[in-house]
Amino acid sequence: MALRNIVTEGDPILRKTCREVTEVNERMRILIDDMIETMREANGVGLAAPQVGVMRRIFVAEPDIESGKVYCFVNPEIVSLEGSQESEEGCLSVPGYYGKVERPEKITIKGLDREGNPQEYTFEGFEAVVMCHEFDHLEGILYIDKAEDVYRAGEEQ
Ligand code: NI
Repeated sequence: MALRNIVTEGDPILRKTCREVTEVNERMRILIDDMIETMREANGVGLAAPQVGVMRRIFVAEPDIESGKVYCFVNPEIVSLEGSQESEEGCLSVPGYYGKVERPEKITIKGLDREGNPQEYTFEGFEAVVMCHEFDHLEGILYIDKAEDVYRAGEEQ
């Protein structure tokens, strides 16, 4: 595995719609493993492929570090969204900032896993926030587009 560079806001790649993965092959698995390593190294809870400069519909997430469960979605699709909550979010591509965002309380999402097998999960609360945030990256959307309020770390309101 290898660490990859995380691209930051201002790079046009973060603003593009990512392409579907046609085959979950060894090259994609290397990318996925690198993304997991890069996410952990950066103390992130999620990372999407465009954040490492790859315009493919893949994201990884580890919303509950204690559980050690790492989710990997290839070609994710949102099955349903329910309710709403206010989250406080940051992004590895927007370092040093946080913002308040309105998100669904619950999301059901399906896609392929690291082996190319179908999977479907329902997430609530903070985990739902993470999945929505990462899914948005694949559409070229950053949380700062949706935030009511964006502030520098250390200047929480
Ligand atoms: Ni992000």
